[in-house]
Amino acid sequence: MKKENNWNLPNLKLAQMRTKDKVKVEKTFAIPENMMNIGAGRKFYLRTYGCQANERDGESIAGILEQLEFTQVQTPQEADLIIFNTCAVRKNAEDKVIGELGHLKKLKLINPDLMFALCGCMAQEEDVVDLIIKKHRHIDLIFGTHNIHRLPELLYNAMMNKERTIEVFSKEGDVIENLPVKRFGTHKAWVNIMYGCDKFCTYCIVPYTRGKERSRELEDIMQEIHVLIAEGFKEITLLGQNVNAYGKDLGLENGFADLMESVAKCDIPRIRFTTSHPYDFTKEMVDVIAKYDNIMPFMHLPVQSGDSDMLKIMGRRYSVEQYKELFDYINEKIKNCSFSTDIIVGFPNESKEQFQRTLDLVDYCKFDNAFTFIYSPREGTPAAKMEDNVPFEEKQERLQRLMAKTNVHASAKNLAWQGKVVKVLVDGMSKKNKEIYSGYTEQNKLVNFTATDVKVGDIVEVKINEAKTWTLDGEKI
Ligand code: 5AD
Ligand code: SF4
Repeated sequence: MKKENNWNLPNLKLAQMRTKDKVKVEKTFAIPENMMNIGAGRKFYLRTYGCQANERDGESIAGILEQLEFTQVQTPQEADLIIFNTCAVRKNAEDKVIGELGHLKKLKLINPDLMFALCGCMAQEEDVVDLIIKKHRHIDLIFGTHNIHRLPELLYNAMMNKERTIEVFSKEGDVIENLPVKRFGTHKAWVNIMYGCDKFCTYCIVPYTRGKERSRELEDIMQEIHVLIAEGFKEITLLGQNVNAYGKDLGLENGFADLMESVAKCDIPRIRFTTSHPYDFTKEMVDVIAKYDNIMPFMHLPVQSGDSDMLKIMGRRYSVEQYKELFDYINEKIKNCSFSTDIIVGFPNESKEQFQRTLDLVDYCKFDNAFTFIYSPREGTPAAKMEDNVPFEEKQERLQRLMAKTNVHASAKNLAWQGKVVKVLVDGMSKKNKEIYSGYTEQNKLVNFTATDVKVGDIVEVKINEAKTWTLDGEKI
């Protein structure tokens, strides 16, 4: 049986600790001499689940692996190293990962040197790591969200000593600067502005898996952005679990508003940001977004529920009235702003009336897009201990009713663009038809359009001829 080296196992109790200690900023990443070429002649396959923070982590993981001389491939069958960069927000996504890892296990029969690694938020969960230790012995390496910079050492140990290697730090977290990065996009890039979350919404595992809210220094963010601009990137998305809290931990008063203003003054055509938390979204921030044409008029503003009592139990720190007030202020200040949201149905004991108030809020806001979920209990969170009297069938039915409503509004919102001219950042062209392109409008609407002589990364004007529920069809003018 393979030897085991549990350098550190996850611990959810430790992970929820928050102290006033100053965050350590680490700028010394370097690959040790003896590990430089451990990937030479080897191929890796990386699959990322979940949010954009994970996508951006995937780019660092790929950057490190390429420095170790691994080559990235697009199918698990070709790989010597398969990495699953996972999400822990909902149980069904976790079950899929475990199922898929089991399914791919047989590839070890064809390639006995094949290694499996699991990282991301699932690696931070005690019960997941416990399950893998006991039941999935083919997983060779587990590393957590705070351990990405340790990948060379961990991989080296797993490969050279043929030891199953597990290292997951359950701590508040540091800020690690200058990790290598392999950007997966050619004209759109993610930029982390802060890590972690201190909100502890009662249903959410993220504050445990990603540690405390910690902002990057403004100079480090701007330096990354200047490099991206020099490399020709056209769109930058500022990333954080709660971007509106940017700089609070650094003692900044107007952190996110000032940061957006600094970025907006750079020569970058499109700036986006995600995710916003209504509690920390100030009027100053809205005013900055309204002031600059290169900050896109699009908000992902999760509401979670349309009932104030439910929001309180969820730990969201705002009432429905406060949400509406912010929503109205944004709508008034930012011309043609589009909105998306996240909504959870079937939270423990959600009553019919409370659910109805969520439907009413959806009618009030008429979101362009809504990500709707059935509540999923997450071990270690306060909500997971709440008794629940809502049958699962009822939750499913509520989800269906909610989706039917959000789709009606999405269609109506898209229909309003019919006949209008929009600016589209070109993402690519159809493989089948060389005259069909796709890209997103400033309001984050996906457009398929006909054009000739257009390049990926161009911003072009498109006349919308037909609106569908989720896409717009048009022609370049
Ligand atoms: N169950 C269902 N949905 C959840 N989300 C977060 N935690 C849970 C959970 N335990 C949803 C929230 C959040 C989005 C990223 O995922 O709506 O905004
Ligand atoms: Fe989770 Fe709430 Fe933090 Fe969002 S703000 S990551 S929902 S705890």
